[in-house]
Amino acid sequence: MNNFNQSKRNFLITSLAFGGALVLETLKPAWAFPACAPSPPETEGPFYPVAFPLDKNNDLTFLEGKSRRAEGDIVYVTGRVQDEACRPVPGAMIEIWQACSTGKYNHPGDKNPARLDPNFQYWGKTLSDEKGEYGFKTVKPGSYPVDWLWTRPPHIHFNVRSKNHSELTTQMYFSGEALNNKDRLLGEHPEGEQEKFIVDFHRVGGKDVGLFNLTLKQT
Ligand SMILES: [Fe+2]
Repeated sequence: MNNFNQSKRNFLITSLAFGGALVLETLKPAWAFPACAPSPPETEGPFYPVAFPLDKNNDLTFLEGKSRRAEGDIVYVTGRVQDEACRPVPGAMIEIWQACSTGKYNHPGDKNPARLDPNFQYWGKTLSDEKGEYGFKTVKPGSYPVDWLWTRPPHIHFNVRSKNHSELTTQMYFSGEALNNKDRLLGEHPEGEQEKFIVDFHRVGGKDVGLFNLTLKQT
């Protein structure tokens, strides 16, 4: 076979293979495509801020104008906002709010007698970048009593909003907390779903970093 015919033959084989792959691709059932299950929602709870700090950033450990940082163990919460096809969602607004290290919210409705930390920001916000990624620097919140039978484990509240996606309100928990197993809210989720809220923190470059991905439903 001369060179021209060889090239023609190769072209034909490649075209057939490519065409075949396209046909196979279109015949694929929906379950064969990558899919990310939407993050399960959780209640907003009673302590979404009624007043916001002057600092409206993603570092909750330091308030501008203060000389000291917040008390407690510093943690970095990072992750990716994505859709149900696992595509990144850039420009999503992510808000978090939480108790300080003593387990107290900066909210008039919080009757917990624990002390407020005047150097903690309690609430923060950030936008996901072009890869859908986001990050917060904060402190590990303390647990707090709800009633005489129930103590909530350390957790961070999340709210995520993005154009063309449903709003997501949920919570993030810390792995290894004995209180996780007794929490009424976590306990309401079916087996296998609870792990989606519970994050492992790992030492990375001298920092405690946890990965919490957020999957939004398309509207
Ligand atoms: Fe809470």
